[in-house]
Amino acid sequence: MSDKVDITLTINGAPHAISVAPRKTLVDAIRDDCGRTGTHIGCEHGVCGACTVIIDGETVRSCLMFAVQADGCEIRTVEGLATSDKLHPLQASFIKHHALQCGFCTPGFLMLAAGAIERNPDMSDDELIEVLSSNLCRCTGYENIVKAVRAAMLEMQAA
Ligand code: FES
Ligand code: FES
Repeated sequence: MSDKVDITLTINGAPHAISVAPRKTLVDAIRDDCGRTGTHIGCEHGVCGACTVIIDGETVRSCLMFAVQADGCEIRTVEGLATSDKLHPLQASFIKHHALQCGFCTPGFLMLAAGAIERNPDMSDDELIEVLSSNLCRCTGYENIVKAVRAAMLEMQAA
């Protein structure tokens, strides 16, 4: 008898029918079984936020979920932010404000910020800093990340 479970992960609107061990984490399934490697793995225990994705509208650390728990959910990853001809305002703002260096943390910050802005498009500076404080970056010193997210939020409000 197979110890794997058949599930469907819907990532950025595309269904992926896969077979996974019940203990496989969602981030591993997204990367290994669905080929979406934009979502990064850092600490693997919920501390760094590199693995942040949006599931049914909620930002989630995908190293803390089992893949089977996301069966049938709508998962959004960094690959879904840009359209075919245009970067998401957050992506463009990260470039403009030099909000990345090595880029390892960037997919997680982008998804964290995208989810937060969608839930509250008018965050105060304090609220923004509180949200962004949940993810770790070892390069930038955070100031340019905050600047970039603030600028993107204002641009999205004006759009
Ligand atoms: S890899 Fe998931 S929080 Fe660090
Ligand atoms: S840009 Fe290197 S960890 Fe954030």
